Amino acid sequence: MRLAIAIVLSFTSLHAYAQTEGPNFIYEVACDAIADVISHESDVYYPDTKEYASDNSHWALSSTTNSTCTVEPGTAEDVGKILLVLGLTRTPFGIKGAGHTANPGFSATPGVQIAMTRFTEVSYDTEAGIASVGAGNIWDNVYAGLEPYNVSVVGGRVSGIGVAGFTLGGGYSFKSNQYGLTIDTVAGFEIVLPTGIVVNATATDNSDLFFGLKGGFNNFGIVTTIYLETHPQTAVWGGSIVTTGVDDAVVAATQNFYETVTDPKAAILTTFNYDASLGLSITEMTIYYNAPTPPEGMFDDFMALPSLTKNISTRSYLSLILSTIEGSNGLRGYFHTVSLYEYTTPLLNAIVNETQFWRGQLESDVPEVFVSYDVEPILPSVFSHGTDSAWPPSRANGILPLNIYYAWASPDNDTLMNQIMVQSADYLTQVAVAEGQDIAETSLYPNYAIYDTTMERIYAGNLPRLRELKAKYDPFNVMGLSGGWKF
Ligand SMILES: Cc1cc2nc3c(=O)[nH]c(=O)nc-3n(C[C@H](O)[C@H](O)[C@H](O)COP(=O)(O)OP(=O)(O)OC[C@H]3O[C@@H](n4cnc5c(N)ncnc54)[C@H](O)[C@@H]3O)c2cc1C
Ligand SMILES: *[C@@H]1O[C@H](CO)[C@@H](O)[C@H](O)[C@H]1NC(C)=O
Ligand SMILES: *[C@@H]1O[C@H](CO)[C@@H](O)[C@H](O)[C@H]1NC(C)=O
Ligand SMILES: *[C@@H]1O[C@H](CO)[C@@H](O)[C@H](O)[C@H]1NC(C)=O
Ligand SMILES: *[C@@H]1O[C@H](CO)[C@@H](O)[C@H](O)[C@H]1NC(C)=O
Ligand SMILES: *[C@@H]1O[C@H](CO)[C@@H](O)[C@H](O)[C@H]1NC(C)=O
Ligand SMILES: *[C@@H]1O[C@H](CO)[C@@H](O)[C@H](O)[C@H]1NC(C)=O
Repeated sequence: MRLAIAIVLSFTSLHAYAQTEGPNFIYEVACDAIADVISHESDVYYPDTKEYASDNSHWALSSTTNSTCTVEPGTAEDVGKILLVLGLTRTPFGIKGAGHTANPGFSATPGVQIAMTRFTEVSYDTEAGIASVGAGNIWDNVYAGLEPYNVSVVGGRVSGIGVAGFTLGGGYSFKSNQYGLTIDTVAGFEIVLPTGIVVNATATDNSDLFFGLKGGFNNFGIVTTIYLETHPQTAVWGGSIVTTGVDDAVVAATQNFYETVTDPKAAILTTFNYDASLGLSITEMTIYYNAPTPPEGMFDDFMALPSLTKNISTRSYLSLILSTIEGSNGLRGYFHTVSLYEYTTPLLNAIVNETQFWRGQLESDVPEVFVSYDVEPILPSVFSHGTDSAWPPSRANGILPLNIYYAWASPDNDTLMNQIMVQSADYLTQVAVAEGQDIAETSLYPNYAIYDTTMERIYAGNLPRLRELKAKYDPFNVMGLSGGWKF
């Protein structure tokens, strides 16, 4: 009934009414209207419930906003009804996969928080070789669900990451050297458009939308299911190694791997951290080989490092992901990035120097500061496995994204941390440019770029086409009521 009221009042008069009733009045109207129209498979939650708290919670504390209510849709049809109410009442909303964005407001809102947690399907069509994955999953569940079939997918490298945001932004995986980005392995998306209609987007159906969704996040609607190509999966070899005080040896091992290993089954991550709460510089490496045993010698430099902990074995893909240690969850935090074309020893040394330099600048003034630079030496052929997508705007050169991650405890330091991360990325960009890498304008990876990055810097020459597509699928800009990169 309240939905009827909401519809009868035009949204302009509703907004005028809200001025006398208080700022959240209109959001409450939307919450009530949603509760009225959804089926029994979906629910609305209010503050002081555990569902409200978990629906709003994010990996980085600074990414969380307390919404007016949360809603957990259970069917695509209900997602459609929710979008209709939000569009009619012009209510801000957030769409959350697993809440791992480090950009405030990208999957959070003061209005209606939509948590996709009930979309937990992981099923496998043995004949087609396609996995159907609900948009509320984390990769851990997908790997576990596919393990009995001896197949897997191109997904996350760390435990807990959401399938939806990761895939809709591109997706750099341990398997990217073999198969490309996650978007290069997507067979289709099921998406609810802002009109409330549910459609599939594939290479043949709504192919323009399929292009836009591969890197275009929530600009066109809410994705409910992702259809992923699978690959045979045996046991893998690898895991994590944690060291301190041997940065020169880590730099040498990482650079040697980068220069000599072209086997696409191999991958590493090398992360240089400074953790003020431990008072220690810690370096964490993950090493990965997509077979039960690696070729002789390939990882010897890493295995020979004196380590604080080492968790390396022949194991399942999921077990390898679980052996990695997540950063400082529970603090505030941002990500930023530099798009590199190659690594050199002087560049790696400049990265190590950034952790030391900024630690020195920050540790006395910024409580619990955590400084982290994650080197991800992907093969330069990484973009050769896929076709046209919203991101990357050009597939001419493979982008090796450096992930910069800072965490801290106090909101008083938010502005400072943004400035320092931008300054540090600019500095490392200059170092790479001075070495002859033409990266000053190279597109930044949208799952790593800090929130005030311009759309031009991410989507570049694709922007006009993406804006046209957005006008076609979302003519009333309903999706503009949710946060994120907006076309
Ligand atoms: C510890 C850690 C490790 C990471 N490792 C990697 C890595 O190895 N490789 C890599 O490429 N990235 C990595 N990332 C980045 C990661 O890809 C992004 O944070 C990603 O967006 C997370 O997805 P999510 O669903 O958890 O995020 P959310 O915060 O829930 O969502 C991110 C964005 O996607 C939108 N979105 C979510 N669900 C939907 C949906 N169903 N329909 C439409 N839009 C939706 C949201 O509105 C939001 O704008 C890592 C992040 C963290 C914190
Ligand atoms: C959200 O509300 C809870 C409970 O009232 C509170 O502890 C928390 O600090 C609030 N979070 C934000 C980001 O405002
Ligand atoms: C998966 O592989 C294991 C080990 O090789 C084998 O025992 C099992 O039968 C395989 N399962 C399927 C469904 O192929
Ligand atoms: C999308 O495709 C899947 C798999 O083919 C199918 O099960 C589903 O019903 C389709 N959804 C729509 C809205 O057509
Ligand atoms: C190694 O990683 C596994 C997860 O794959 C974990 O269960 C185990 O506790 C880890 N071992 C050590 C010694 O940390
Ligand atoms: C270390 O980093 C700082 C800050 O970016 C920079 O000014 C300085 O020149 C760097 N020093 C070396 C030796 O690279
Ligand atoms: C960082 O936050 C702390 C704690 O609130 C505060 O004391 C300090 O002045 C802040 N420093 C800067 C430079 O923002």
